[in-house]
Amino acid sequence: MTRSGSVITFLGPDGSGKSTIARAVRQRLTDEGKPVRILSRRDYLRAQPTGHVADTNRALYDAGLRSLYSLAEAADGTALGALLPSPPADLRDRALEEQLDASRIAANNPQAITAAALCEIAGSLMYYTSVVHPELDAGTVVIEETHPLKMVSKLCLLAQRTARHDSHARAAATVLRSAAMVLRPDEARTIPVLVRCSPHRAYDRLIGQRGALGGLEHHGAAGSGRGKDAYLDLQTRLVEAFEEVAAPWRCVIVTSDDEDQESSVKRAVDAILADPRMAHLV
Ligand SMILES: Nc1ncnc2c1ncn2[C@@H]1O[C@H](COP(=O)(O)OP(=O)(O)OP(=O)(O)O)[C@@H](O)[C@H]1O
Ligand SMILES: [Mg+2]
Repeated sequence: MTRSGSVITFLGPDGSGKSTIARAVRQRLTDEGKPVRILSRRDYLRAQPTGHVADTNRALYDAGLRSLYSLAEAADGTALGALLPSPPADLRDRALEEQLDASRIAANNPQAITAAALCEIAGSLMYYTSVVHPELDAGTVVIEETHPLKMVSKLCLLAQRTARHDSHARAAATVLRSAAMVLRPDEARTIPVLVRCSPHRAYDRLIGQRGALGGLEHHGAAGSGRGKDAYLDLQTRLVEAFEEVAAPWRCVIVTSDDEDQESSVKRAVDAILADPRMAHLV
């Protein structure tokens, strides 16, 4: 079947404005009468889909969370894996997610973090093929607020940083390089957007919006550093990883460094919708 829909997907550091720009793009396309939906893997699973394909998606999502937390320890020595209910209980429960996110990770295993990245890659492939592609077949413009390469990159960078053996650091670096190829968007129907923003500015915005960093970010998943400096270091590396894919992925590049949110969001939306590929995609 020929797919008539298209995907607009966003890359950029935490708090760079991806969701804000994504929602503004949706509004503009909706105003133009286009069939547009913002979709995410997490929302899909939260809606408690049933059936064997949904079960597979859930299993891959749960495997990622279990890999990330099974060998992690809190500062007081508590094994965070003990917070996870045994399979087949699913982990999409918001309260559990919040509890895990608030956990103070004091130590973790770099290979387990790399395993979580591999689960994220596998789960994303399964999600695209079983959820997003049917939407494209139906002619929908699918907007994805965050491309999965962000989470995969974060995990691989954390694994590299916590590795005490070269082979573990190499494994994480190899997974990250592979992810950039495996998760590369389909050029024929995808417009990837890179939102450039300085990590410092994005940090201030995130703190303004949420009051605190998530557990993974704040504690560097047991990286050597903690708090703001460790976070900014991670985000700086994340930005470098995104810049590496910007050209090969043919990203539309927008900037959200501007203080004036309204005008910078408008400029970003204009740039995305003015991309010549939009004419073919929508
Ligand atoms: N261009 C902008 N100028 C100023 N502030 C902005 C801009 N874009 C977004 N913000 C503000 O920054 C905060 C984070 O924005 P948003 O949630 O869109 O970022 P994000 O990239 O989706 O973050 P995450 O990676 O955590 O999903 C929000 O408070 C938002 O209002
Ligand atoms: Mg977002």
